[in-house]
Amino acid sequence: MDERDLSGTDLHTLAVHAGNSIDAGSGAIRTPITMANSYALPDDPASISWSDTETPLYTRNSGANQLALQRKLALLEGGEDAVALASGVAAIHAVAFTLLRSGDHAIVSDTVYEATFRLFGELLPERYGTAVTFVDVSDLDAVRAAVRPETTLIHTEAIANPTTKVADVAALAGIARQAGARLIVDSTFTPPPVFRPLEHGADLVVHSLTKYINGHGDAMGGAVIGGAELIRQIKADAMVDVGGVISPFNAWLISRGSITLPLRIRQHIASARRVAEFLAADPRVALVAYPGLEHHPQHDLAARQFALGPGAVMAFALTGGAEAHNALVSRLRLITSAVSLGHDETLIVHVGTDGPRVAYYPQPFRELGHLRLSIGLESADDLIADLSQALDALS
Ligand SMILES: Cc1ncc(COP(=O)(O)O)c(C=O)c1O
Repeated sequence: MDERDLSGTDLHTLAVHAGNSIDAGSGAIRTPITMANSYALPDDPASISWSDTETPLYTRNSGANQLALQRKLALLEGGEDAVALASGVAAIHAVAFTLLRSGDHAIVSDTVYEATFRLFGELLPERYGTAVTFVDVSDLDAVRAAVRPETTLIHTEAIANPTTKVADVAALAGIARQAGARLIVDSTFTPPPVFRPLEHGADLVVHSLTKYINGHGDAMGGAVIGGAELIRQIKADAMVDVGGVISPFNAWLISRGSITLPLRIRQHIASARRVAEFLAADPRVALVAYPGLEHHPQHDLAARQFALGPGAVMAFALTGGAEAHNALVSRLRLITSAVSLGHDETLIVHVGTDGPRVAYYPQPFRELGHLRLSIGLESADDLIADLSQALDALS
């Protein structure tokens, strides 16, 4: 059965209803999981295109749950279309693989997720002969200066993993337009309704769906959202013919998890503010990076750009470096030590000072290393009590 007409509805309504329809076979009011890799062909298969990505045909092109998730993500981000893939990294690769040719140049924020850094900095240059300049995107003159005639894309995270540097997306979009390049924004830390980069001039938005959009820590996925023509190219080249497609079960889980996204994210942010303020007030904590704090270098930009608040991921550090960080984590009773972020449970991960990315971090990140903390949906009082008892145990 057709999905209901959602034109003119707001994000809370879209989060509930988009991509969901009454199942014509069973009458179920929730779109079921369709664990099939193939769909019945028409009587005359010559009439179909084997690379069709819109009618259910084969799950690498157009599985039912993948199509439903794509419709939902396009509406949530205000894009014309979306492509869902197996992970956030697969989504970022899909964009680069589709848009960059050998000899092209990419400008990439100097602070991005590790796999993104390696993809643009190492893998694509070595294998395909692309060039990259890593730039501090908070310095717009530096971004302008990095533009070359062969610059085809600018890639940034809206809030950077892990230092929480904030990108001015409208300003970067202006630079990209003037350069004849495309602006790609990884908005994993700032899902709708926090931020919708397409409204600020981005050409494509990327998400690790694994994080807030699914929100429950039980599925991996990635997505690219944007204009119909660009998404068509990404589907044709990077989805159908490279094949990093999302599974029906993960697409279903993420569609389900995202129903509560607008409610969850408000709670994540409210608790993150309290935890960040607690850490910033504690003299044993040497560094707290959270764009909601006034001393953050892009606090004003974050306040302007993210009306609901700047997400719920922060970094903090103790003067004792790795030893102190590991000791603190080992004393936590409620907060879980694990990678990932944006889950219902609060996650902490120790990030050391090794690797080529670290050279771009500001001090004292470079010297001390840091802990990345993703605030979940537990009570903020309980989270603060857990951090407090672990800090007390250390001193
Ligand atoms: C900002 C950002 N982009 C992309 C990714 C990669 O996503 P995935 O782990 O789903 O491949 C991550 C993972 O942490 C991330 O933080």
